[in-house]
Amino acid sequence: MTTHRVAFVGTGADPENPSSEGFAMAYQHASAYERLGNCELVGCADIVRENAEAFADRHDIDEDGVFEDYEEMVEAVDPDVVSVCTPPATHADIVVGLAESGVPDAIHCEKPMAMTWGGAKRMAAAAERADVALTFNHMRRFGDPFRDAKALLDDGAIGDLRRIEYSWGNFYDNGTHAIDMCNYFNDEYAPSWVIGQLDYREEEVYFGTHNENQMLASWEYENGVYGMATTGPASEIADGDWRLVGTEGVMDVHLTDEVAVRVRSLADDETESFEYDGLAGEGESCIDRAIADVVQSVETGEESELSARNALNATEIIFAGYESVRRRGRVDLPLDIEDNPLEEMVASGELSPRSSAD
Ligand SMILES: NC(=O)c1ccc[n+]([C@@H]2O[C@H](COP(=O)([O-])OP(=O)(O)OC[C@H]3O[C@@H](n4cnc5c(N)ncnc54)[C@H](O)[C@@H]3O)[C@@H](O)[C@H]2O)c1
Repeated sequence: MTTHRVAFVGTGADPENPSSEGFAMAYQHASAYERLGNCELVGCADIVRENAEAFADRHDIDEDGVFEDYEEMVEAVDPDVVSVCTPPATHADIVVGLAESGVPDAIHCEKPMAMTWGGAKRMAAAAERADVALTFNHMRRFGDPFRDAKALLDDGAIGDLRRIEYSWGNFYDNGTHAIDMCNYFNDEYAPSWVIGQLDYREEEVYFGTHNENQMLASWEYENGVYGMATTGPASEIADGDWRLVGTEGVMDVHLTDEVAVRVRSLADDETESFEYDGLAGEGESCIDRAIADVVQSVETGEESELSARNALNATEIIFAGYESVRRRGRVDLPLDIEDNPLEEMVASGELSPRSSAD
């Protein structure tokens, strides 16, 4: 059996007290690799040395594998797989640096892909050039209710898919999970246009990046299926967190107040209900499943469904939605910008959210 050498960039400080100030996601990645039995944790780097030391201590990484600088770490420990768990603004440079180092075979980076659309494209291109398997931690798609909903959809439970709506969270930080899920339901078809409007009056900064308070967006996929997002207070609009509308029925996937899938047939108005205790099985998490998929794809050479290609699909919808707000119009794709329009509208004063310090 091949043993994969795994290293981490950005360990986080405190996995016991997760918050939007820091979840220390690397600890969850580490335990997912550990439970596979074919991975050896060999190194970690964090600009805060004591974070890296505490992580190494917890995960039995030799002190020679502890670094502040990820480039030195990669050079020294020669990893096959690197998990990147730093804030979004740092993802692009670190992933490009890792790919260009020529060392790892695979890089598994936390979501959202990058702070800007240009950064996201740069990461995907660098990985492709270096023949590195680049994946993003859109792990929720491995959750049981989502897998079951997709199987029901594919079995024709609501006829042909016409529209996917999500009413949950925001458009960037957890919107990346939500939109990735819409794309999963719609077999990864690319979007052809996006239109949106947002409200941003109270500062919402997660992991160093601005997120709107409320967003309304819609888009069309190349197969004619429509997508729609209502975030913040507007997420109360719908019953489920995701609603799939088909020619013969409607399916709601609930995540917030309960974990359930409900399928309503238009023909007889009957509702079938499936309820869950959580997203994954006893003692298992979606991150365990995502990392198992990443490691398996390293072994088989087959593209993981968490690939940069799929992540770009979700990321383009996010930045095109923000660009639609900036342009005050529909944005036809492919998206021809490099920046993050929401960040730019805040920087220019076009949007001026009140900070909690005011
Ligand atoms: N998949 C999910 O559901 C989920 C949940 C929470 C957070 N996240 C994502 O995980 C990522 C990390 O979030 P977190 O909550 O673990 O953050 P965190 O603050 O707990 O940890 C990040 C660590 O990165 C280190 N760091 C920053 N820049 C660095 C650099 N250039 N080189 C090395 N280390 C560096 C910091 O010192 C810190 O220890 C973010 O992108 C966030 O959006 C994903």
